[in-house]
Amino acid sequence: MSVAAGRSPPRTRARARRVRVTRLLRHPLTRYGALAVFAAIVMIVALAPLASLLVDGWSRQDVELRARLVFRSIREQVSQGIAAPSAELDRLLDRLAEDERLLALGFCNEAGQLEYATAQFPKSVACDRLERARADTFDIVRDGNRRTHVSLFPVTIGARSGHLLVLHDLAYSDARAYHARLYSTLSLIGIAVGLGLLSTAIVLAMMRGWTRSLRTAIVRAGLADSIDMAPSEFPVSRDIHTLLKELRLERKLAEGIHIDWSPNTLHRLLLDELPETEVLVVSNREPYIHNRENGVVTLQIPASGLVAAVEPVMRACGGTWIAHGSGTADRETVDKNDRLAVPPADPTYSLRRVWLTDEEQEGYYYGLANEGLWPLCHVAFVRPTFRESDWEQYKAVNERFADAVAEEAVTDDPIVLVQDYHFALLPRLIRERLPRATIITFWHIPWPNSETFSIFPWRDEIMDGLLGSTIIGFHTHLHCNNFIEATDRFMESRIDRERDSVTLGGHETLIRAYPISIEWPPSALAEQDPPQQCRNSVIQRFGLPADARIAVGVERFDYTKGILDRIRAVDDLLSQQPEWRGKLVFIQAAAPTRSKLGAYTALQDEAVGLVGEVNARHGTDGYQPIHLVIRHHDPREVFELFRAADMCIISSLHDGMNLVAKEFVASREDERGVLILSSFAGASRELHEALIVNPYDTRGMALAIGQALRMPENEQRDRMHLMRDFVRQRNVYRWAGQMLLDAARLRRRDSILRSVEDE
Ligand code: F6P
Repeated sequence: MSVAAGRSPPRTRARARRVRVTRLLRHPLTRYGALAVFAAIVMIVALAPLASLLVDGWSRQDVELRARLVFRSIREQVSQGIAAPSAELDRLLDRLAEDERLLALGFCNEAGQLEYATAQFPKSVACDRLERARADTFDIVRDGNRRTHVSLFPVTIGARSGHLLVLHDLAYSDARAYHARLYSTLSLIGIAVGLGLLSTAIVLAMMRGWTRSLRTAIVRAGLADSIDMAPSEFPVSRDIHTLLKELRLERKLAEGIHIDWSPNTLHRLLLDELPETEVLVVSNREPYIHNRENGVVTLQIPASGLVAAVEPVMRACGGTWIAHGSGTADRETVDKNDRLAVPPADPTYSLRRVWLTDEEQEGYYYGLANEGLWPLCHVAFVRPTFRESDWEQYKAVNERFADAVAEEAVTDDPIVLVQDYHFALLPRLIRERLPRATIITFWHIPWPNSETFSIFPWRDEIMDGLLGSTIIGFHTHLHCNNFIEATDRFMESRIDRERDSVTLGGHETLIRAYPISIEWPPSALAEQDPPQQCRNSVIQRFGLPADARIAVGVERFDYTKGILDRIRAVDDLLSQQPEWRGKLVFIQAAAPTRSKLGAYTALQDEAVGLVGEVNARHGTDGYQPIHLVIRHHDPREVFELFRAADMCIISSLHDGMNLVAKEFVASREDERGVLILSSFAGASRELHEALIVNPYDTRGMALAIGQALRMPENEQRDRMHLMRDFVRQRNVYRWAGQMLLDAARLRRRDSILRSVEDE
């Protein structure tokens, strides 16, 4: 994926230019550069006069030395000439003055008159203005810009005395000083320029290295195709923060950098880490069920944690979801390949429906999956039932779904996300059909300890089936450990406890905890009224007192959910703390599920009976403490209940995660409401700010409901705030993202291993 360089309007470009210039001026390198230039100017200003001074001093010393030499060499002749004046002295002086370095020679007598002077002798030099001492003296006489150096040497011949004047023109000294100034300035400028160039070269070299690593990072982040692209094609003008934000997710994760997980992040993850990869999901339950009711086709979104979690992921990723077509109008709504594009309102992925016969459903779904594995894996003290005929159907249906996966796969190495305990054999069957597939199996329910698991008659078969996966995911580390313990006890496999992997028949399967979550924000929140309005409409719908304190429970009518236990707790509270009678109302929304099974119908009957008893015990005319609503509730209704509630009670006897807990938290942007949560639900490992209860302890749960009723608003806010933060960050996109990132890493490793083998 590359970032398209869009043309921005001129005003934006001018602003961008100004911003760049301002940034450049504020850059530390620019500041240091300006400081260096300032220092160079100071040095030039200070050193240039110093150089002139030095040169001037040297020139004067030089001139004085030469004047002395001249005087010594002619002293005798001058003395004689003065003693016996003759034209000879004139000639001698004129001849000496021909030396180009001498300007003129002259003789001042004792009366201060210039007695002899060569032709060039300047008028500005007058004997009476010179200081004529007994020793050699030197002076400088200025005439406009011209400077004349005058050396006076005392001469005494008999009674006569005077001074011989040796004059040098200092113009050459000025020229020397000028040149010295010039050369020193030029040298300093040269040095400054040299140093500047050198440091620029160093900075450029550093920047080139930096730019290259930035480009590499940009390419790795998928924002450009190649680091050798032309600068104009490169998105370097993008703000560095944007680039950093878009660095590869994998690296961010590895470095513990916070990532905001969203459909977008997941989508980008697929593009960046798994380009061109086909994603297939397999589950028993389909995300959209079409039913025919009173001659009209209706659409139902099932009450299923699996669907609530995986559907938003598929919306973000695209691909194909293969599931059992269980609706009465499902066949009417597919094409000739049993496919339809979903979500129906705005399709982003394809749903492939697999049809099951009644016998298959009986044996595979109701029998082996829900009367066998379901009670086996949940510690709910319902005895599992294992029938050979169910097992046969379970195997046959797993084969049928494996065929469907092979039919739907367009490539030979898709990522297949196998969901749940309905398909324990499927990973191995897919592996046989698509050996290069990356198979991630997620087990949505708990995995029991090996003692419990050991009673399962086909334990070796389902362990073998699962170990065809590339990765097996559970909600919690406890379930991972239970699974590894089971392989240790029952399979001839190699366990690597460092990597948390199991190798069976040369194939390694990673065992990982990926705590499932919900989409954030939940789409069911989109059309919700404010909490107060939700409360008003719930009060109206159920005919509750205006000041009612509302507790809610929302789930499938399943014996693992502890519905009876929470009804008993409400009963206990109203008995122990009668002040809540007339005020506390508990609304239980329970979606009928697996109603063909005796354990489920028995539960429903028992619950209806119990609610009747409690209502009779504590209810009055116009006050019914418990409302049990047995029907399917769509997500919008569920969220309205959550928003109307003072508390949500989740008392699962055993639960993989329980997404209702996270949905309740997500529904309360007003940060009100208390979550009462069973310690046997995986969610209690994450939502520590809930009131954690043991659903088997009726009195303890009753006290927790009392505590929730009395909890001050600020405490509710503090608890809810922390839980919302947690669920927001650890949403379902993160759940899927982590599995896909692990898959991407393994695929890269495999492709390296394959290329090594090919060589
Ligand atoms: O909790 C286990 C589970 O399979 C979930 O994954 C799913 O949400 C729920 O049971 C629904 O069960 P069913 O599809 O049988 O109604």
